[in-house]
Amino acid sequence: MTAKLLRGDEIAKLLRERIAADIRQRTIQGFRQPSLAVVLVGDNPASHVYVRNKKTACEHVGIHTIDYTLPQTTSHQELIALINKLNLDPKVDGILVQLPLPLQINPREIDELIDPHKDVDGFHPYNIGRLAQARPYLRPCTPAGVMLLLAHTGVKLAGAKATVVGTSNIVGLPMILELTAAGATVTTCNSKTRDLAAEVAGANILVVAVGKPGLIKGAWIKPGCIVIDVGMNRLENGHLTGDVEFEAAKQHAAWITPVPGGVGPMTIACLLNNTLLANIKSQVPDK
Ligand code: GUN
Repeated sequence: MTAKLLRGDEIAKLLRERIAADIRQRTIQGFRQPSLAVVLVGDNPASHVYVRNKKTACEHVGIHTIDYTLPQTTSHQELIALINKLNLDPKVDGILVQLPLPLQINPREIDELIDPHKDVDGFHPYNIGRLAQARPYLRPCTPAGVMLLLAHTGVKLAGAKATVVGTSNIVGLPMILELTAAGATVTTCNSKTRDLAAEVAGANILVVAVGKPGLIKGAWIKPGCIVIDVGMNRLENGHLTGDVEFEAAKQHAAWITPVPGGVGPMTIACLLNNTLLANIKSQVPDK
């Protein structure tokens, strides 16, 4: 068997086109243009690239971005003051604080401070709790994007065996909640998992979000599995690669996401979608 490619770049393009059309339509109807405050603290080079990509994607669909680029020395109190101001600003629909933050700032406190209705990353405990109860409000972007990729394959999630490798707050944990809400039988693996090969081998659906190239051996993949590789690792030769041995896994899987061009574009498209949702909900009486 050779797997079909789950081309996130193509599926994300369709989603972005739908979002752009919705925004155009709403503007004609007289609604306010969606706006996203993008907060970047410090000099992490990868964060600068991610933020630039997010802002460009916003501009292409008609979301206004407001930039807050703050120095590495920004204090916890200074960031809190900015978020309090953005929470109160009725012209700001979404607030994105790019992670990681400098060590003097506690990211958990920042997540909790952002108004859950403006939390377009979906990291606030309110939004995680809503997802845990299978009645999501703003959903974390990467797992929401993975669910769209899974829908594209036509797989029936109810009753499927899904293994999630990695338990981060950004991807692994909300991924478990999404799959559980969809009725899958979900196994969670972390760095202490005794027999990772066996947990992977039992999966109809495999989602890997660890950040270790080659962690998942192609030979472990069950025939017909859907493999979603969230890993994004830069090799010494400059190439990007995921956490799964791509060529070997392709021999067993039914579907597999490429890296790059798989999950990454879906994450950004779901951020745009959340910003539009936040904008829509802010302009109706019952939010
Ligand atoms: N850093 C890495 N991924 C993300 C993300 O999805 N959102 C934010 N805010 N920061 C990140």
